[in-house]
Amino acid sequence: MAGTGSVIAVAQQKGGSGKTMLAAQLAVVLAQAGNSVALLDIDPQGSLTIWGKLRKAAPKASVSVSCAAISGWRLAAELEKLRSGNDFVFIDTPPVIDSDARRAIRAADLVLIPLNPSPPDLWAAEGTIKLAAEEKRRVALVFNRAPAASRLRKRMEAEIAARGLTLLEAALANRAGYANAFADGLGVTEAGPTTAAAEELRALAASLQAQL
Ligand SMILES: Nc1ncnc2c1ncn2[C@@H]1O[C@H](COP(=O)(O)OP(=O)(O)OP(=O)(O)O)[C@@H](O)[C@H]1O
Ligand SMILES: [Mg+2]
Repeated sequence: MAGTGSVIAVAQQKGGSGKTMLAAQLAVVLAQAGNSVALLDIDPQGSLTIWGKLRKAAPKASVSVSCAAISGWRLAAELEKLRSGNDFVFIDTPPVIDSDARRAIRAADLVLIPLNPSPPDLWAAEGTIKLAAEEKRRVALVFNRAPAASRLRKRMEAEIAARGLTLLEAALANRAGYANAFADGLGVTEAGPTTAAAEELRALAASLQAQL
């Protein structure tokens, strides 16, 4: 396979789990660290594409992150082009498992699955986990909107470990900063570089890189 960049497909059937937000935030923080980063939006909802457009007019946008929307049969070829031209490519996928989601997962080095630390979110992720296994792709789960410590979170950590699945060490809490930065076409590390959210996000990027 040509190219050297890492392709990360952000996938999870559960709607609103934070796929688009994570793709945007991780892209910004990795670009700030000097990496070339591309985003690929294959969700017909197009929220990441809108974020990319807002970003063009955002004075606080400190780094360039390319943003494309492609689907269908052109996806695989376009992905290889993006992979060879970038250090990281994040694919934001829709909350469904369709042929595009399969193409994205097939092309990915890692499938990143955001979930709330609660059983229904893990149940909702089963389809994506199964698809990744069929395509022999590595999976990393990441807790989003996670309480710092709760019995349920501990229980979920134990369940994930018992199944031999990888859970990123860093997690994101529920913070308005994520949604606010997204609404302005920014990452939290640009909107508020010294906030707890930015701190969390940088830790998450480090956890992710450790998996690649
Ligand atoms: N940790 C968080 N703290 C606060 N708000 C969050 C957090 N994660 C996500 N959000 C917000 O929740 C909403 C849903 O997130 P997002 O759009 O990223 O989910 P999604 O998985 O991409 O949804 P869909 O399945 O519809 O594509 C957005 O408004 C987003 O900014
Ligand atoms: Mg989305």
